[in-house]
Amino acid sequence: MASNPVLKRAAARSVRYDTVEAMIAALDPSYPVYCLRSSVLRERTRRFLDSFPGTVLYAVKCNPHPLVLRALYEEGIRHFDTASLPEIAQVHEMFPDATAYFHHPVKSRAVIVNAYEVYGVRHFVVDHIDEFRKLVSETGARDLIIMVRMATPESGAAYNLSAKFGARPDEAVMLLKTADEEGYRTGLAFHVGSQCLNPAAFKIALDIANRVLDASGAKIDYLDVGGGFPAAYVGRETPLLEDYFAAIRTGLEQLKLPQGCEVLCEPGRTLVANGCTLVTQIHLRKGDSLYLNDGIYQSFSELVAGYIRLPARLLRPNGAPSERSMDFTIYGPTCDSLDVLPVPVHLPADAREGDWIEFGRIGAYSNAVSTRFNGFYTDTFVEIGDASWPPRNV
Ligand SMILES: Cc1ncc(COP(=O)(O)O)c(C=O)c1O
Repeated sequence: MASNPVLKRAAARSVRYDTVEAMIAALDPSYPVYCLRSSVLRERTRRFLDSFPGTVLYAVKCNPHPLVLRALYEEGIRHFDTASLPEIAQVHEMFPDATAYFHHPVKSRAVIVNAYEVYGVRHFVVDHIDEFRKLVSETGARDLIIMVRMATPESGAAYNLSAKFGARPDEAVMLLKTADEEGYRTGLAFHVGSQCLNPAAFKIALDIANRVLDASGAKIDYLDVGGGFPAAYVGRETPLLEDYFAAIRTGLEQLKLPQGCEVLCEPGRTLVANGCTLVTQIHLRKGDSLYLNDGIYQSFSELVAGYIRLPARLLRPNGAPSERSMDFTIYGPTCDSLDVLPVPVHLPADAREGDWIEFGRIGAYSNAVSTRFNGFYTDTFVEIGDASWPPRNV
C-alpha cells in the first residue's frame, strides 16, 4: 500500500457509523462518500468460499480499496488475481501470507523481473508465445507456472473479455504443449466475460478447455475458470451463484483433470458490488435535471454502456420527501456534456438542492476506475453498520 498514499491514508482513517443518516448528520458531506458494508462483503465471500469447488482468488482490479481487501481477507481469501506491480505490492504489503497471481497476458520485462524476484510471484498468464519467451528469458527460472489464457465465445456477458486477450484453441494447445515440453508447470485459464448472466457459458468454456487439454497432452496443475459471476443490478433477472457452480461442476465432471490439478476462479464484481453504496449530493436542480457531485468520470463510468442500473434513494434527514416520484436526468460535476447518466433515475418529485442521493450496488469498478478529471475525485470511504438498504436480492 505504500505505493498509493491516498489509499493508505484512507485505510488508516477508516471511520464507522451505524447508519447512513448518522454519517450525514456527522459530516454534512458536500462531497461523495463511499459507504462500505463489510458484513455484506463478508457474507458474499463466505458463500463463495463455501460453495465454489476450488480455490477463490479475488480480482483486485475490481475494487482495490484497503477496507475491501481487508474484509475479504478476514473472511478467508488468501489468493489474489493481480494485473500490475502496484496491485502485487499492495497484496504483498497488506497480507504477507497471501499469494498474488500475475494474470495479465501482457507485461513489461522490468515488471516481470520485479514480480518474480521482489515479490516471489510464480503464476504468470500468457496468451502468446512471445510473452512466454519473455518470461523465460527475463527470469531464467525453472519454477514458473505458465497459465495459458484461452479465449471463449460470447455467451451472455455484459463485457466481452475475449476480444483483447485470449489464445484461440489451436494457439492454446501449442502454448501448453511448448511450456509442458520445456519442463514448466502449467495451467489453463479463461474468462467468460464480466457480468455474465448465463451460467451455461462456464460449461461451454469448460468443453473447449477439455478439447484443448486433450489435444495438448499437457498435465496441467491449474484450471482457472476466471470471473464473470454477476451482481444483481436493477431490471435484470440474475441467476443464483449456485447455478454457476452447478454448471462448473458439470463441466468439470466431463474433464479428466490430472490428479492434484487445482481448480481456481477469480471473481471480482459478484463479491464486492453489493457491499458498497455511494452517497452523493444534489448541487442544483433545473426542472427535471439534477446536478450531482459524482458522475461518469468518477464512480459511474460503468453505467455509460447503459447496461447497468443501480438502485437509488433520496435522503433528506430533516424532512420528508414527497410521496410522488418522477424520472430525473442526472448530470455529473465536470464541465463535459457527456457527463450524464444514460438512463433517468426515479426519485421523489420534490428532490432539491442539498438533498442526498444514495446509489446502491456500486462496489465494483467504481472507485477502481475513477478519473481525476476537472479536479473531481471520490476518495472518501466510511464503514456503515446498517446493511438493510438496498435489500438483498440474490
Ligand atoms: C483476468 C481477469 N480476472 C478476473 C476479472 C474479474 O472479473 P469479474 O469482476 O467479472 O468477476 C477480470 C475482469 O476484468 C479479469 O480481466
